[in-house]
Amino acid sequence: MDMDSIISQMNISIPMQEKIDLLNKHIEEAKLGGGEARIEAQHKKGKLTARERVHFLMDEGSFEEIGMLVTHRSTDFGLDKQKVLGDGVVTGYGTVEGRLTYVFAQDFTVLGGSLAEAHAEKICKVMDLAMKNGAPLIGLNDSGGARIQEGVVSLGGYADIFYKNTLSSGVIPQISAIMGPCAGGAVYSPALTDFIMMVENTSYMFVTGPNVVKTVTHEEVSSEDLGGASAHSTKSGVTHFTYENEIACINGIKTLLKYMPQNCEEDAPSLDYVATDESRPSLNDIIPENPNQPYDIREVIESTIDADSFHEVHKSYAENIVVGFGHLAGKSIGIVANQPAYLAGVLDIQSSTKAARFVRFCDCFNIPLLVFEDVPGFLPGTDQEWNAIITNGAKLLYAFSEATVPRITVITRKAYGGAYDVMNSKHIGADMNYAWPSAEIAVMGAKGAAEIIFKKEIKNAEDPEGKWKEKEMEYGDIFANPYRAAARGYVDEVIRPDQTREKLIKAFKMLENKAVTLPKKKHGNIPL
Ligand code: HXC
Repeated sequence: MDMDSIISQMNISIPMQEKIDLLNKHIEEAKLGGGEARIEAQHKKGKLTARERVHFLMDEGSFEEIGMLVTHRSTDFGLDKQKVLGDGVVTGYGTVEGRLTYVFAQDFTVLGGSLAEAHAEKICKVMDLAMKNGAPLIGLNDSGGARIQEGVVSLGGYADIFYKNTLSSGVIPQISAIMGPCAGGAVYSPALTDFIMMVENTSYMFVTGPNVVKTVTHEEVSSEDLGGASAHSTKSGVTHFTYENEIACINGIKTLLKYMPQNCEEDAPSLDYVATDESRPSLNDIIPENPNQPYDIREVIESTIDADSFHEVHKSYAENIVVGFGHLAGKSIGIVANQPAYLAGVLDIQSSTKAARFVRFCDCFNIPLLVFEDVPGFLPGTDQEWNAIITNGAKLLYAFSEATVPRITVITRKAYGGAYDVMNSKHIGADMNYAWPSAEIAVMGAKGAAEIIFKKEIKNAEDPEGKWKEKEMEYGDIFANPYRAAARGYVDEVIRPDQTREKLIKAFKMLENKAVTLPKKKHGNIPL
């Protein structure tokens, strides 16, 4: 039914009950979206409808819909006969675990969830409300992209959203869940938000789909292989989280929100915490005697922070660095940790970019940073150099340097070369740096260092191998420990591993009111 006939039916001579009945009829019609058959088709694909998704996301009874009766204004290509109340997107606000949250959920049953003028205006409206009222925005994406029949207004609608995504960045948390197709320029709205989640086997994201890929590059690839959850969680790093079904994805949104504040002016919510014995003796046994033997840094993280509170981000991407949220004595923190169990924890292009983005998110939203450092340096090689490890490594350096939240580093083992500086060193603004007795803080490992600085001596020795070993030991004795750095104050304290949790709780408490003002500028120029 179009608006004219709605208005003509709302004649003032009609009794109120009939008007209410008419309203109810419209509401029921809007709730049906594209109709029973399309809802069934959606379910058959293993997908929920937009309204079902919102229902599972929001606290029971809290959702208030905005713009349920909006319709498009287009008449081209028969669209005048395809007006569906709501125009293919459910928008509104409610609470998630008691906290105000705004949401839009695209309805694939209506014109394939395609986005055009009215659909975009509805999304923009909740984006504006989220910004004005300082609360997170959740986008549940399931769309065939720009509504082809509406032409350029669809593109304009996307650009309006991109612009608002950008202005909202760093002001309110924005989370995008991809629950169906997300193709073409449509991918750039999620890409501009803070976190992307995908559902395995039912969602995909790509700038150009398999057909275009085949035409242009002659590659044959399925939608799933090109832009499914697995590709984006392991190869591209576009998605931060993947889930096996939509309910798990929606629960993932709720979990993530627990670690973040409503907006950049607030702190993340604290959980109740009762202090107990904070010593963690198991940490004394984690570092292997052989410095080249790996160990899992997650064990260090999980033994240090509150039990079961670690929420890892980008788990399957650039695994040589681990990032994620946790609680320490009930307070939300962001954790960045080199992972010796993967590529020896080396810093490379992907791990630097992954960590830099996480550090910036935490800094935007007042989440203190904890760094565990065990890094042998930057990864050498033509692949890294030609793909700009210089620029990408600088991203992490820049991100830490400009972060004004409380920042603490614990050096568990290696802190070599430029990577020592980059990984939240005191020199670039960390507030407290601790080192375990196992720490090795030097320009490089003893073996490589001995080879360079004693080159002639080793070459001319009767037993070059023996000489090399001797010089390696000599260099190691001097630098493969934390005491030179501690003597300079680059490390504030050398601590037993079992003391780590207690020291961190006290230090983060001490830093609670940290206030730093950066030099006045329009904005910095991060090496992109
Ligand atoms: C209008 C669309 C649509 C679109 C789907 N539909 N996409 N209508 N504009 N973009 C409609 C279909 O016509 C169909 O209507 C219904 O939605 C369901 O679509 P199906 O094709 O039956 O579903 P399925 O087989 O699941 O395939 C989904 C799909 C496919 C892969 C998304 O629909 C598709 O390829 N759509 C076109 C994708 C596309 O090229 N979009 C433009 C991208 S460019 P009926 O009435 O038959 O049920 C872009 C630029 C953005 O988005 C730029 C921003 C800067």
